[in-house]
Amino acid sequence: MTLLHVTGARPNFPKAAPVIAALARRGARQRLVHTGQHYDDRMSEIFFRELDLPRPDINLGVGSGSHAEQTAAILVGLETEMLQTRPDMVIVYGDVNSTLAASIAAAKLQIPVAHVEAGLRSFDMSMPEEINRIVTDRLADLLLCTSPDAIAHLAHEGVPAYRIHLVGNPMIDTLLANLSRLDSQKARADLGLPEDYLVATLHRPGNVDDPESAAELVALVHTAAARSEIVLPLHPRGRRVLEALGMGDHPRVHVVEPLGYLDFMSLVRGARAVITDSGGVQEETTVLGVPCLTLRPNTERPVTITHGTNRLASAATLIEQLDEVLAESVDTDRRPPLWDGHAGERIAEVILDWLDERGRE
Ligand code: UD1
Ligand code: UDP
Repeated sequence: MTLLHVTGARPNFPKAAPVIAALARRGARQRLVHTGQHYDDRMSEIFFRELDLPRPDINLGVGSGSHAEQTAAILVGLETEMLQTRPDMVIVYGDVNSTLAASIAAAKLQIPVAHVEAGLRSFDMSMPEEINRIVTDRLADLLLCTSPDAIAHLAHEGVPAYRIHLVGNPMIDTLLANLSRLDSQKARADLGLPEDYLVATLHRPGNVDDPESAAELVALVHTAAARSEIVLPLHPRGRRVLEALGMGDHPRVHVVEPLGYLDFMSLVRGARAVITDSGGVQEETTVLGVPCLTLRPNTERPVTITHGTNRLASAATLIEQLDEVLAESVDTDRRPPLWDGHAGERIAEVILDWLDERGRE
C-alpha cells in the first residue's frame, strides 16, 4: 500500500512534515511529490533542510504561471505520476493550486483523496484559495479539519459526517516541535533589530498586486514604523511593486528576503505584534500569544479570533488597532481545541483506519 503526498508551495511544507513523520512511525509506504509551484531556495528547499522532511521522490518543476497554466501543468504531471505509481490514497494540504490540481488528478483516476485542513471558508470567491478549498473538499473522501467551524461548513454543504474528522492543526505540531529551536534574541540581533519590534508579511494578491493598494500598504507600514521598527520578510509576489514604491526606503523598516522557518518563527515569537495577510501566520501567532493584525476583510480562520490573538484590520483601522494592541497585555493561554502538537498522529490514525476498513470491504 502506498500513500502519495502532494506538496508544492511554502505553506504545504510545515503542514505535511508531521503527517509524513507520523505515518512513517506506523510503517506506511509513502511517496512525496513536490510540484515545483514554489522553487526559490527560501520558499522551498530550506524547509526540507530545517523540518526533517524526506527528499521528494519527484519534483514536477512546474514553476510560476497564470492559474490555468500552473494548475494544468500540475494536473498533467500528477496524472503521469499517479498512473505510474498507482497510490492507494493521495494526501493534499491546504488551499494552494497544487492542492486543487492533485485532488482533480486523483479523483479522475478514482484514487481516494484525504484533505488536510478541510472545511475552512472565507466566503470570499475573489480569493483563489477559496475556489481551491471548495473544489478540493467536494472531491475529498476524507476531510481532516483543524477547527469546529470547518466541520459546520462541511456539514452545511452536505458532506456526510463519516467523512469528516476534527484532528487539530499539523502546522501547530511543527511549531510546538520546534519551539526549543527558536532563538528570538539571536534572530533579532542578527538583523540589527531593537528589543521592541514588529514583524510584517504581505503577499495576498488583493493587497500587493494592485499598485494603488500596494502604495497604501507602503504608507501604512511606514506609519507603523514610527511606533516600532519593522522587519518585513518579503514574499516574491509583490516584491518588485513594493520595492519600486519605496517600501524599504525607511530607516526603521527592514525589508529582507523570505526567511527560513526557524528564523521566521524566532522573530515572530519575540515580536510585540505581527501585521500580516498570511493564513498560517494567523494560526502561529495565536499559539505563540503574539498579537496579530490581519490586513484582510475576512478570514477563513475565525478560530484565531475567537480563541486566539488575531484581529481583522483594514487600511483605515490598522494604525489605531496597532496602538491598542501595543498598549494591552496579551492573554497567552488561549488556544483552539486540539492545537496540541498531536494532529499528525490523529491524521495518520484516521487515514490508516480508513484504508484498513476499505481493504476489508
Ligand atoms: C501561493 C498560494 C497562496 C499562498 C502562497 C504562500 C495559490 C493560488 N496561491 O501564492 O495561497 O498563500 O502561495 O506563499 O496557490 N515566485 C518566485 N519564486 C518562487 C515562487 C513564486 O519568484 O519560488 C513569484 C513568481 O513571480 C510568481 C509569484 O511569486 O508568479 C506568485 O507565485 P504563485 O505560486 O503563483 O502564488 P503565490 O502568490 O506564491
Ligand atoms: N514562513 C516562513 N518564512 C517567511 C514567511 C513565512 O518560514 O518568511 C512560514 C510560516 O510558518 C507561515 C508559512 O511559511 O505560516 C506559510 O506562509 P505563507 O504566508 O506563505 O502562506 P499562507 O499561510 O498565507 O498560505
